[in-house]
Amino acid sequence: MTTRSTAAAPPALPDAAWRRRFRRRILGWYARNKRDLPWRNTRDPYRILVSEVMLQQTQVDRVAPKYLEWLERFPTFRALADAPVRDAARAWRPLGYNARPLRLHAIAREVSRDYGGQLPSDESTLRRFRGLGPYTVGAIRSFAFGQRASLVDTNVARVLFRVFVARGDPKSHALQRHLWRIADAMLPRRKVWDYNQALMELGAVVCVARRPKCESCPMRPICRTYQGATDRS
Ligand code: ADE
Repeated sequence: MTTRSTAAAPPALPDAAWRRRFRRRILGWYARNKRDLPWRNTRDPYRILVSEVMLQQTQVDRVAPKYLEWLERFPTFRALADAPVRDAARAWRPLGYNARPLRLHAIAREVSRDYGGQLPSDESTLRRFRGLGPYTVGAIRSFAFGQRASLVDTNVARVLFRVFVARGDPKSHALQRHLWRIADAMLPRRKVWDYNQALMELGAVVCVARRPKCESCPMRPICRTYQGATDRS
């Protein structure tokens, strides 16, 4: 778990009852609604990293076939490190945002050279890799290594903002920091893997940016935005 400090007194975090209800609801919803996505059937750090880098800025439906193709071609950090960078760039090209395969290739070379082909699991070492930001590090720690690590990407930030905050500018630095603090405070002690997947899933399929599907959202009874943002302050 990462702790972030703020200069001014930070806004209050959700109380214990609200946190419990959120966790219970999201885990129940996820158990009933989860999609069978290929990166959910692995704990291999390399595969998790490839999926997370592919999923940055790209829709799940486009990523899934490319992810499987990529793993056939470059199944491990070592296989990717041993390949010429232009092969990696070419294999990636249909996904766009073409700096991503270069970063992935550089990480594969570093992992092979300095870590015997095994991605390190601790937060500070992971953060030193170029191209691994706080979200991706949280995803690797939680999805590959089973650590109790929070993660906040755009989808997760939107869910937490709508359910727990509902006012202010969600893009402001102060609010982004607050959303990370909420994410840290929300982490369950067990089932962190399911919980983090569930949070991403809810943001991807229900609590979407435009026209959220509130009528089928498990958070409706406890969502500050849905409730009109008046009754909990
Ligand atoms: N986007 C980023 N990571 C994801 C995951 N694990 N499942 C679904 N969408 C994602």
